[in-house]
Amino acid sequence: MYETMKTSTLWGLRVSGPYLHDGRASTTEAVIQGHEGEAKNSKDRFLKLTSDQQAILVEFLKSIWITLTTGPTGS
Ligand code: HEM
Repeated sequence: MYETMKTSTLWGLRVSGPYLHDGRASTTEAVIQGHEGEAKNSKDRFLKLTSDQQAILVEFLKSIWITLTTGPTGS
């Protein structure tokens, strides 16, 4: 039997820190660099990018947002 873990969503990343279960990462760059295990490949690929490419990716991640359009205040 596999153990599964539901990680938190990336929506609203720019306001959801500090990150990781113990809050040890305070920036988007730090949370990516905090990945190990199955996620190490993603971290290594991030670290191989140029600093400009890293900055573009981080800006993209921070831009992911959701606006509720239904419900008590949105309908
Ligand atoms: C560049 C790609 C990725 C980004 C931007 C990313 C982003 C994040 C963020 C922001 C968190 C913190 C969530 C929180 O504090 O509540 C997180 C945690 C986590 N991510 Fe990722 N992730 C990436 C790739 C991956 C991959 C490929 C895996 C697994 C194969 C993974 C597994 C996890 C796990 C298990 C946690 C929880 C770790 C902990 O709380 O200590 N991530 N990730």
